[in-house]
Amino acid sequence: MDIFIKNIVDLLKAEIPLSEDEIKGLIEIPPDLKMGDFAFPCFAVAKQLRNAPGKISSELAQKLAASELITDIKAHGPYLNFYVSKEMIFKTVLDEVFTESDSYGNSDSGVGKTAVIDYSSPNIAKHLAVHHLRSAVIGNAIYNLYKTLGYKCIGINHLGDWGTQFGQLIVAFKRWGPELKDQDSIKDTGLDISKLNELYVRFHKEARDNPSLEEEARDWFKKLEDGNEEAIETWQYFKDISLSEFERVYEKLGIKFDSYAGESFYNNMLDDTVNRIKDAGLSEISEEALIVNLEKYDMPPCILRKKDDASLYATRDICAAEYRKREYDLDKMIYVVGSEQRLHFKQFFKVLELMGYEWVNDCVHVDFGLIKFKDGKMSTREGKVILLEDLLEESCKIAMEIIEGKTSELENKAEVANDVGIGAIIFSELSTKRVKDVMFDWNEILNFDGETGPYVQYTHARLCSVIRKCGETVTNEIDYDVFKEDDELLLVKKLESFPLTIIRAAQHCEPSILSKYLLDLCSTFNRFYQHHRILIDDTDLKKARILLVDSVRQVIKNGLSILGLKAPERM
Ligand code: ARG
Repeated sequence: MDIFIKNIVDLLKAEIPLSEDEIKGLIEIPPDLKMGDFAFPCFAVAKQLRNAPGKISSELAQKLAASELITDIKAHGPYLNFYVSKEMIFKTVLDEVFTESDSYGNSDSGVGKTAVIDYSSPNIAKHLAVHHLRSAVIGNAIYNLYKTLGYKCIGINHLGDWGTQFGQLIVAFKRWGPELKDQDSIKDTGLDISKLNELYVRFHKEARDNPSLEEEARDWFKKLEDGNEEAIETWQYFKDISLSEFERVYEKLGIKFDSYAGESFYNNMLDDTVNRIKDAGLSEISEEALIVNLEKYDMPPCILRKKDDASLYATRDICAAEYRKREYDLDKMIYVVGSEQRLHFKQFFKVLELMGYEWVNDCVHVDFGLIKFKDGKMSTREGKVILLEDLLEESCKIAMEIIEGKTSELENKAEVANDVGIGAIIFSELSTKRVKDVMFDWNEILNFDGETGPYVQYTHARLCSVIRKCGETVTNEIDYDVFKEDDELLLVKKLESFPLTIIRAAQHCEPSILSKYLLDLCSTFNRFYQHHRILIDDTDLKKARILLVDSVRQVIKNGLSILGLKAPERM
């Protein structure tokens, strides 16, 4: 894999106190060919080496020896610039993309390791709304990124399927829900999430005038916790209804999970967890509740049990973390959850640390900002929730209108409109840094010329069409010396840095690094294509350029697939 970068890493790792992965994560491609093909920013090691970046770079430039692959190494301010052999780069990169095809970009730093990724994780008995979209889409991309590094990945949907609200729902269902006739099973009541929502709203309305309803709800939740058959059956029914909607939406998004072990899954393990915390002398009673006091760490207490003994969200997360570590022997645990839960994660990670678990250092909260909607269609102004399913449908509808206006001969229009509509939504969530809020704008996300999913998909389809039109089979048995243009060099260098981009995106749990890369690759290609022809008389150059174009196609396809987008061949 990426032998040039490997070569650079090998050279550097003998001289600087960073790991291979850290060095790889720092290597850059200079904006200007004159500044070399790859660069290492020496300020990244200035502290450790107690030296000025400019000094480090010039010392390294003197020390490091050029090779067959890296023909020159020069210092440029704080940067160390590497110049690769032009003959070698075309041959190695294009040959590699061609032979590895769908697996080009894969590497092996994660082989033998396991990553658990907790994403989407909605609360049941409610519709999936747009804020569940970001976690699902970011989590899925991170899952794919880690898989590409060779990790065994476990995707977990930590469903919010436990808590006092289910006592309230049972009360509402029994009082105002569909009537059960003797011979009916609860499953014949034909409830859906909308009706569950109505019941939930009604409960809160009625409970305002009739506080005894709350009492009743607590009793039902207690029954649920004690395993009462009727309570469990009703709750399970709510869960089944929810899952059938969730799975329908996930399928549209092309998102899967390896486990749906939600909060309820940990019910019978909670006592052990709480006892471990007690035995370690970490807990105390405060206002009748059992807490871990985190005052020393400038945080509010982490509540483990309320005065009625009920467990909390945090208790279940601590327990789930212990279980996952036991069950999967994981090397990395990634929680993809919105920024508003930052404190929750800080608190329960702290409790894990106080419990003596060193592996808490392998746990990360990958947070993200909100989706905001411009006024107009689907605005959230009046506090209305936007249902995810409606959003996806609308996007596919608009994509269909655009496609109908473009071509008439496409056979599988509906399928393509679907790929583009869903792709537009997914890409829009992944193209800005995740901590930033996303301003959702229909005109932007479906713009075929903008920085969008459809633009990348469309470039891919154009590449497919160029190759189709050549009418030749792509081969890697070409004369690699015919590449002479800077535009070709820029393209092949971009292709070479694909594996590196994946490593970097995974390291930072930041899919936007990959989306940005794809946008750059597309514009680098489009620039090349504006200035250079492919179907030319010079057979050797033509063959070589077809291989180059095909390699770009392959890398776009691989990149889109990691982000969770389809790459239609015609659109
Ligand atoms: N169910 C929670 C919510 O909707 C998100 C759960 C995230 N995962 C976790 N392990 N806490 O806000």
